[in-house]
Amino acid sequence: MALSTDIGIDLGTASILVYIKGKGVVLKEPSVVAINRDTNEIKAIGEDARLMIGRTPGNIMAVRPLRQGVISNYTVTEQMLKYFIKKAMGKRTLRKPRISVCIPSGATEVEKKAVEEAAYAAGAREVAIIEEPVAAAIGAGIDISKACGNMIVDIGGGTSDIAVISLGGTVVSTSVKIAGDDFDEAIVRYMRKKHNLLIGERTAEDVKIQIGSAYKRPELATMEVRGRNLVTGLPKTITITSDETLEALREPAMQIVDAVHNVLERTPPELAADIYDRGIVMTGGGSLLSGLDSLIEEKTGINTMIAEEPLIAVAIGTGRFVEFMNGDRED
Ligand SMILES: Nc1ncnc2c1ncn2[C@@H]1O[C@H](COP(=O)(O)OP(=O)(O)OP(=O)(O)O)[C@@H](O)[C@H]1O
Ligand SMILES: [Mg+2]
Repeated sequence: MALSTDIGIDLGTASILVYIKGKGVVLKEPSVVAINRDTNEIKAIGEDARLMIGRTPGNIMAVRPLRQGVISNYTVTEQMLKYFIKKAMGKRTLRKPRISVCIPSGATEVEKKAVEEAAYAAGAREVAIIEEPVAAAIGAGIDISKACGNMIVDIGGGTSDIAVISLGGTVVSTSVKIAGDDFDEAIVRYMRKKHNLLIGERTAEDVKIQIGSAYKRPELATMEVRGRNLVTGLPKTITITSDETLEALREPAMQIVDAVHNVLERTPPELAADIYDRGIVMTGGGSLLSGLDSLIEEKTGINTMIAEEPLIAVAIGTGRFVEFMNGDRED
């Protein structure tokens, strides 16, 4: 019997994850491609490409082909998919794999088609395109085959997908371009306005992960932040508190809460009742922002929890989707 492989690929704007049935998540790399801008030649993909940023001659540029969660560059996307599939499969290339790819719910038909063709071109035998919220729900351990409403809030780097799922499909959803990266940008803006301090996006992300809060912490946390004083032009270090990040992050956090509200308002009453009973489940790296769950819970009055492995839930769900749709056949 030939060996059949099922692969799930989470095409995220921040990172790409590959899940192989029976093995779990085998690969996670940044969604970056380094291109020679003179010849259009691809120089490096993924982690290798990220390492090249800022360390190469000016004619090599780093591209994020999935910026904002959509396919903005078809050829590059195809090359990237090919590379990751090959790297993830290693020598297990006895038979062409069945591949499911997860794309954001806001993607257009044209973008869906582009991803599908790229996956075939990359060597797939069968391709399934799956919406991010459905993948997130499966990955979070929700049985989506039941006629029961579940709300998933997936907060990634570029987009937040909020959806009500029932019977394996999305009933109501929205996709907003406010997510983890916007938290970083809000921190950069805050530091400039309040402290006249210019900090980089990397530093801002560190602040977010270490002391960032969307809801008041029981105990104040502090952190030293290094940047450039915009008045003197010299390096400067200041100490900031978690309460300051609360102020900095209020706007993007509330935009996500508003999006959740908007979906709840459009949810049919029976499904809304299910959600009140079962709670809201959060996935994606952005859901790890401290207190974001509490904020959503307070503003909606619905119990809100973070999935067990929020960063890989979508990849796991994408991989399991093939089993879910076709039964567990090995043909
Ligand atoms: N512990 C943490 N606290 C706060 N934010 C975090 C934490 N860990 C990761 N993040 C943020 O999660 C975001 C990335 O999440 P994820 O990997 O789910 O995105 P993605 O799936 O690639 O993007 P998208 O779904 O928008 O295409 C980044 O903004 C990152 O800073
Ligand atoms: Mg994602």
